[in-house]
Amino acid sequence: MKKALITGVTGQDGSYLAELLIKKGYEVHGLVRRSSTFNRHNIDHIFTTDAGRLEHLHYGDMADMNSLMSILKKVRPDEIYNLAAQSHVKISFDVPSYTAHTDALGVLSLLEAVRLLGLKSKIYQASTSELYSGDKEDAPQNEQTPFKPKSPYGVAKLYAFNIARVYRESYGMFVVNGILFNHESPRRGTNFVSRKIARGVAEICAGTRDHIELGNLDAVRDWGYAPEYMEAAWAMLQQETPEDFVIATGETHTVREFTEAAFARIGVTLRFEGTGADEVGIDAASGKTRVTIDPQYFRPNEVKYLQGDSGKAFALFGWKPKTTFAELVEIMMDSELAKVHYIKPKAEKTDARIGVGCLEITDTEKRYVNEVLESGRLSQGPFIKRFEREFAAAHDARFAVMVNSGTSALEMAVACLKEVHGWQDNDEILCPAVTFVASSNVILANNLKPVFVDVDPQTYNIDPAKIEEKITPRTRAIMAVHLFGQPAAMDKIQDIARRHALRIIEDSCETMFAKYQGTSVGVMSDIACFSTYAAHILVTGVGGLAVTNDPKYAEILRSLANHGRDNIYISIDDDKNTKGEELKEIISRRFNFVRRGYSYRVTEMEGALGCAQLERHAATIAKRKENGAYFNLHLAQFGGHLQLPMAAPGAEHVFMMYPIVIKKSSPVKKADLVQYLEEHGIETRDMLPLINQGFYTDLYGDLEAHYPVAKWINNNGFYIASHQMLTSHEREHIVSVFKEFFYTAGSS
Ligand SMILES: Cc1ncc(COP(=O)(O)O)c(C=O)c1O
Repeated sequence: MKKALITGVTGQDGSYLAELLIKKGYEVHGLVRRSSTFNRHNIDHIFTTDAGRLEHLHYGDMADMNSLMSILKKVRPDEIYNLAAQSHVKISFDVPSYTAHTDALGVLSLLEAVRLLGLKSKIYQASTSELYSGDKEDAPQNEQTPFKPKSPYGVAKLYAFNIARVYRESYGMFVVNGILFNHESPRRGTNFVSRKIARGVAEICAGTRDHIELGNLDAVRDWGYAPEYMEAAWAMLQQETPEDFVIATGETHTVREFTEAAFARIGVTLRFEGTGADEVGIDAASGKTRVTIDPQYFRPNEVKYLQGDSGKAFALFGWKPKTTFAELVEIMMDSELAKVHYIKPKAEKTDARIGVGCLEITDTEKRYVNEVLESGRLSQGPFIKRFEREFAAAHDARFAVMVNSGTSALEMAVACLKEVHGWQDNDEILCPAVTFVASSNVILANNLKPVFVDVDPQTYNIDPAKIEEKITPRTRAIMAVHLFGQPAAMDKIQDIARRHALRIIEDSCETMFAKYQGTSVGVMSDIACFSTYAAHILVTGVGGLAVTNDPKYAEILRSLANHGRDNIYISIDDDKNTKGEELKEIISRRFNFVRRGYSYRVTEMEGALGCAQLERHAATIAKRKENGAYFNLHLAQFGGHLQLPMAAPGAEHVFMMYPIVIKKSSPVKKADLVQYLEEHGIETRDMLPLINQGFYTDLYGDLEAHYPVAKWINNNGFYIASHQMLTSHEREHIVSVFKEFFYTAGSS
């Protein structure tokens, strides 16, 4: 069995090399420095038993020749990998003598010890790209490129390089220098820029840190993945003759690019502003500063441009990099993200529920409802009138009619348009294949036929590109549903409607106070309907509103809600303060029913609740949007599995809910994830199954076969809460349960 001694075994490279050599059947020994605190997390999994540790880990120090002699005498290694060094370039300016002692003279001690003991050990000396000047003219650097180090570290390593060469040439020893360019991994020390960025970004993602401070963003480096570099180190010692080799990817990236890629992993796009020490990296979505420059990280003498040419290693032993820069950043980020999760307390299974909806009752609601109770007026009073007026105004609309549900409002809207435009039974209304069942039920309730249109796979709203193929001579209208808080693509829908002389109804039950290309929902159609049922944006218990700008529609809607009454007497106040001819007219028509109507009225208490909530709707919407952005940021790390909500260009998403669809490429099963969330107190709902429901398949057969996007959503979509009463603790809990599912429940 071959024996190897690794100095610097606790570091990134040492730990990967130990793993590699053990896999290759070596007996691996390590030299560890005595320090007051153990720093062996990188190798704890390798030297797992106390006995193994005692047998294979030896106290020593590169600055202590005696210790090197005694370890070498005891182990008598076939191969020695000298990785021990003070390897931080910036710190070498702070501790130049120490750096020279360990990184330069330490190597001399090791070579001299091997020579004096008469060992035949092959020696790998960890050299570095910091030997080069880093001037762009020199790039790409290879074994022939002249050395001109710019730091105490580089100078010490240059001595080591040369003394190794001198021992090779003078004493015939098998000594090689591996000139390794930057090679990173999750085991990098946290004060190295790659790891520092990865960790910092993960902490930002976890909400425990606000921003990261960096030095020179424009330093160009050639970054590879550390374990692959240790394969090269081993291969160098297996060659016939000892030679020096450059190991690098040949690809260059700036620190800025590394930073951008790390942020991209958590769904954040950075925008850089300013120059020099005043430059900042801003989260383009939230406007928050995430990167600042701290000149203390500038090196006194910067190596600007490193790009290695490892053609010789490829020619002699076929080494080439396998992991791309993007993959390296991903590996490092995912490791840090897992750790952020790891240090968080475990999410407990809980009976406390984070419901998809909330009920926010303040003193205003209580006061207004009490006013109703004390007024002796439960129906058709001032609160309903005020709510209708203010709700319409908040949507830039002229009229609103409050009824007892969103469904009632929709049913009336269809009935109104049917009456005005003379639609016949079985005429067709286009309706998205994913929506709450009420959107199409109201079409059936009016003896019309819903014709489904598949939805957009990103927004989940009706796909305008698929509307026209469903239009027939009997098509009369488009039911444009604004799902989960995001308006549908109304510009395209309006254009199609105009060209085909179709009416539009907005089913805006899930979306209030949102704009599409600057226009409010509610006024982009003939009639728009809203719901104030539980879990909606405003909650009045039961309730809904039909909104329109057309006075004729408004009159008919009001009549429909009141049994189809003649509009002369809709409200019980309509005969108040009238006399003479006017009163006579009202009396004669008070019980005139001019159409088949409904009894869809609400009480003043719903009106009162609506008024109270409307007063603070701006804050409600702001909080919901903030929650949406929070989940988008913190769940982005699962972007490989989950499709998170995104707003279409020009669409304002007000997050009535937070919809998630499991990607087709993910092995995760919706049932498993949903069960896990529910068991950890997070309520979910299916993402609006409609065309797969028995009632509809009985009517129309296997619709899913014709609606692939709807089918995917039906099987993989669900939503969780994003309401305004979510506490920061609840939001964190939700994210940590997702993390736990993906990192520890073994699903990723
Ligand atoms: C898209 C959509 N349409 C219609 C409705 C019906 O509203 P309501 O429950 O008030 O009848 C809802 C309710 O959740 C809905 O989400």
